[in-house]
Amino acid sequence: MSTKNPVPAHQGPLSPEDYDETLPVASSNPDKPVDDPGIEEHIERYTDANTAAGNRAYAQVVGMLALVPLLAIAFVVIYFAVPRDWYIKFGPLHSYAQHLGLGITGGLAVLLIGLACIHWAKQLMNDTEISDERHAMVSSPEDRAAFQKEFDQGAADSALGRRRLIGGALAGAIGMAVVPAVVVLADLGPHPGKGLRKATIEKTLWADGVRLVTDVNKRPIKASEMEIGQLVNGQPENLFDLHGVEFQQAKAKSSIVVVRMEPDRIKIPESRKDWQVGGILCYSKICTHVGCPISLWERTTHHLLCPCHQSTFDLGNSGVVVFGPATRSLPQLPIKVDAEGYLVAQSDFTVPVGPSYFERDSRHDYKDGDN
Ligand code: FES
Repeated sequence: MSTKNPVPAHQGPLSPEDYDETLPVASSNPDKPVDDPGIEEHIERYTDANTAAGNRAYAQVVGMLALVPLLAIAFVVIYFAVPRDWYIKFGPLHSYAQHLGLGITGGLAVLLIGLACIHWAKQLMNDTEISDERHAMVSSPEDRAAFQKEFDQGAADSALGRRRLIGGALAGAIGMAVVPAVVVLADLGPHPGKGLRKATIEKTLWADGVRLVTDVNKRPIKASEMEIGQLVNGQPENLFDLHGVEFQQAKAKSSIVVVRMEPDRIKIPESRKDWQVGGILCYSKICTHVGCPISLWERTTHHLLCPCHQSTFDLGNSGVVVFGPATRSLPQLPIKVDAEGYLVAQSDFTVPVGPSYFERDSRHDYKDGDN
């Protein structure tokens, strides 16, 4: 085994001065190519050597943790007491007062927990370095017993035995830090019971007589203008009476694709015989997997492909899933033509559109083979 380590950049024969004694030394043992450099000498910290300093660090940790419940209470008070439309304009600071208050109190609470833990670990926990050789993944009973012993020692070294208030203060701080989250969760809205679902997420703008218009230029779609193999992205005509959030929410549920196929090349079940106009069919544009908008259309196979996770729906067979993670057929919108030859809806969708959710009633979903 070599006892000295050559300086790598050297050119030509080595002399004793070319060796650097401080670098790790190569070993002749193939299982240990580099000798164990050992552990640096332990230097006692000020808080270990000086009892007053140790007690000061202890008080600082407890002090930081004690502030967290106060900040959590302040968070809740700000949430309820500060009006949502109070706006602060101070130099470059432009913000709603409530957002600012919630951000400061919530952020400070988390920051103080982190700082207290770091301070505790650096100043009060045992800082003696230990090393262990790598060994097989399955521990022997002796190792497990040794681990238990070390764990008990670690618990004793954490100073929690002597400085009990830290444990209580940390538990209290973390417990109280959850309170703001609970309050904010409660603000998500009312429980979506059956009645509420029917009036909101299970209802779209489609109704008897509502015209289908193109998504791009809002032009009503005439049945006679649709060509075989064509796909048009559409919306209900009355969508464009809405604005802002209302518009976005309605659009997310009402978007459709209209396709035209050779009537004798598609499978139309008896129950949906009157839902189409000469091979023109209309489906929801929202994937039933997790709700991406779909319009990748394979006109020869009649398949509609979702770009998100490749769910594929057969529009020539009532929108059944032929591939991918979606489990429900694409909802079909029953359509007809009005007196002027424009495509109009017969009703709203007969099943909820979009991704599934726990309370959803799936009894009326179309399954392959249904009549
Ligand atoms: S959202 Fe369409 S496949 Fe996932």
